[in-house]
Amino acid sequence: MRISDKPLAERLKELGVELRAGVSLQEKTSLAIGGTTDELLLRNYDTIPQVMRLLADENIPYKFLGGGTNVLIADGELPWVILHLPTSHPGMRVEGNRAYVDASADLGGMVTFCAKHDLGGMEGLIGVPGSVGGALRMNAGAYGTQIGSYVREVELYRAAAGRIETVRGNDIRFDYRHTSFAPEDVMLRVTLELPSKPYKEILAGIRMCNEKRRASQPLNQKSAGCIFKNPAGGSAGRMIDELKLKGHRSGDAAVSDRHANFFINAGNASCADMLRLIDDVRERVRTAYGIVLENEVIVWKN
Ligand code: EPU
Repeated sequence: MRISDKPLAERLKELGVELRAGVSLQEKTSLAIGGTTDELLLRNYDTIPQVMRLLADENIPYKFLGGGTNVLIADGELPWVILHLPTSHPGMRVEGNRAYVDASADLGGMVTFCAKHDLGGMEGLIGVPGSVGGALRMNAGAYGTQIGSYVREVELYRAAAGRIETVRGNDIRFDYRHTSFAPEDVMLRVTLELPSKPYKEILAGIRMCNEKRRASQPLNQKSAGCIFKNPAGGSAGRMIDELKLKGHRSGDAAVSDRHANFFINAGNASCADMLRLIDDVRERVRTAYGIVLENEVIVWKN
């Protein structure tokens, strides 16, 4: 979708929005899949409610893109614009056992920043790619750690109310890869409370998690992490592996040889290739195990 209306572009500029025309979302996602659209960089948090209202009044559909590491985006010219928070120099500071972090910060960067201030607990999250905001929204987790356990407060644009609000951690539900945030809400800042731990100890934990991850996941390939959620008490990766589907392909979309719940873009995969592979594998697992796997990756169809 293109914003060609000059007065609208001018109004957006006044609200602190930088308009980037015709951006390829292949370059913005870890899967390197996605079509083309205009990108609106929200440089001023305070005006976000006005920007949203303006887009609604002008009938411009939008989607908010975070780190782009857990999303599968449709091909071609997209029927919505992308909203994005600037990622350079995100705010991060520590006071006592609390860390105050902008949602646009890199998750791994936040873990190491806190570690340097002798605040631990999040070692398991070190290799999870993406932004702090994306991790919050999905309650990202690995190696026994979930970000939700440490959240004390979140500042967000609450879409239903059309304004910026602060929510206490206790009032947010954090479940397995799911939270009570609405899909349209935009995470802005988070306050975490973390246990004190000597830097060296945290570093040892980080190294251990990194090694485990390197040994079992295809880190150097284009993926969106695990494609399916694990079913209660089971493992999607193990089931797909047992069905001998490692290396199984649809076009350039392939089941990773290393971890069967990672689907990779092995060349020039389209969204259609990836969706076909996802449906094919889901169907095979359903036939063999009677379990319907639920997507972990977020799919934006056009
Ligand atoms: N397994 C296989 N073959 C495979 C993959 C896994 O047999 O190809 C077996 C493993 O040997 C193990 C079991 O399945 O016995 C579970 O595998 P693993 O320890 O790799 O964990 P997972 O359940 O597949 C989850 C998260 C990962 C997270 C790891 C580590 C989900 C969907 N996945 O994977 O998160 O990194 O645990 O804590 O919950 C993600 O969310 O995108 C993600 C990658």
